[in-house]
Amino acid sequence: MKNKPKGHVIVLPYPAQGHINPLLQFAKVLVTKGLKATLATTPYTINHIHEPTVAIEPISDGYDEGGFTHAPSVESYIESFRSAGSKTLSELIIKLRHSSCAVNCIVYDSMLTWALDVAKQFGIYGAVFLTNSASVCSIYWEMKLGNLFFPLEKWVFPISIPGLPPLGVSDLPSFVARPDDHKAYLDAIMGIFETLKNNDWVFCNTFQELESEALDGTWPVVPVGPMVPSAYLHQQNSEDTAYGATLWNPTINKSYMTWLGTKPPRSVVYVSFGSMATTTAKQAEEIANGLKASKKNFIWVVKESWEILPKGFMSGLGDAGLVVTWCNQLEVLAHPAVGCFVTHCGWNSVLEALSIGVPMVTVAQWSDQPTNAKLVEVVWGVGTRAEKDSDDVLSGKELEKCIGEVMDAEKSEDLKRNASKWSQSASRAASVGGTSDKNINEFVKILMLPKG
Ligand code: UDX
Repeated sequence: MKNKPKGHVIVLPYPAQGHINPLLQFAKVLVTKGLKATLATTPYTINHIHEPTVAIEPISDGYDEGGFTHAPSVESYIESFRSAGSKTLSELIIKLRHSSCAVNCIVYDSMLTWALDVAKQFGIYGAVFLTNSASVCSIYWEMKLGNLFFPLEKWVFPISIPGLPPLGVSDLPSFVARPDDHKAYLDAIMGIFETLKNNDWVFCNTFQELESEALDGTWPVVPVGPMVPSAYLHQQNSEDTAYGATLWNPTINKSYMTWLGTKPPRSVVYVSFGSMATTTAKQAEEIANGLKASKKNFIWVVKESWEILPKGFMSGLGDAGLVVTWCNQLEVLAHPAVGCFVTHCGWNSVLEALSIGVPMVTVAQWSDQPTNAKLVEVVWGVGTRAEKDSDDVLSGKELEKCIGEVMDAEKSEDLKRNASKWSQSASRAASVGGTSDKNINEFVKILMLPKG
């Protein structure tokens, strides 16, 4: 019989794909190290999570039927989650007192700062998990320290922040560059940094070698990433081959993998803008033109209705391209036929591409993505940034040019070499004795001791 776990962590993600993936992965890793982990999530996401090693329990955001999309505004959603979430999380902790091992820590998503109050109320450990890069977080940290403050007109660009390249306005997180458009999100994020030091741990989904300078700043952060299933971190025999959660189902039931199998190595462009960004018909037309003009094979994830695609595009594709509503991105990126990832630069997508070693064309949309795009191109040397026009549209010509740079031009060899280097570095960090692995072990060791 297995040893009874000595510590029990509730892991609390924000209920969106890009947040559930890294937090569920963290819960899985904690279980492999001997802790018990319970993922607490909303009723409408629960049915999409299938991970046998982690217990799953419901908590409420106040919108149990439909979730976020039913809330009248971001502000009211965040407030509703705060009140319904605090109450149901407390009830869950009380319920689990009677389980085989009482809860002694909450690891919560950085969007859910109220979870720290619940942890304090019960006298258990509280740890925040930052789902953005350390570099992006260090911009918010500088703002919290008062070294950068609004109005933006007073900032002298390019700004310089320790550990980051010089940043223009277009390199800043959209919550900072356009604070009036995203007030609720910016307030929620600044709330994290106001209370950062009250946490027992501040975890970040990154690794030491990738962001060493941003990590070694004045803030108390512990890198534990990349939170990518270990089979994609060069641990070939690992049985950990998927995150264990998917809020959408792949439309054409994995026939895209068969299709990929018919294509030569590094000949396919994979295009996806993650789970939250939406694509307009105008943008879809330009992407369609760019992909056609590139003369490359491609897989394009279009989550929206395919009505946004130009007329005749699907019927004219032949064998050169596939459009899907959702796919298993890890499997696609890891397929030898894929040679380029056209990405919105969501932090999980960037970490996945770095871990697997796929060069990128970056098409940032909002949130942390512009800064991630800057780092991908300028600091890590694994991609080319596609410039949008004044209407915020990426033209087909620009996309064609960038795909050419990543797949054919002289620069492509450097990008491939760097991508392979980062992939090895990610693997080292997560392997036994690696920097992130050691940090997680330290945490686990403390949770296994009685608190006092
Ligand atoms: C959001 C923000 O955009 C991101 O920047 C932030 O850091 C986390 O929250 P999202 O926009 O969804 O996330 O992007 P990303 O972080 O890349 O996460 C998307 C996840 O969905 C990835 O893990 C990716 O593997 C997965 N995915 C995406 C699929 O499995 N299939 C798809 O077809 C597309």
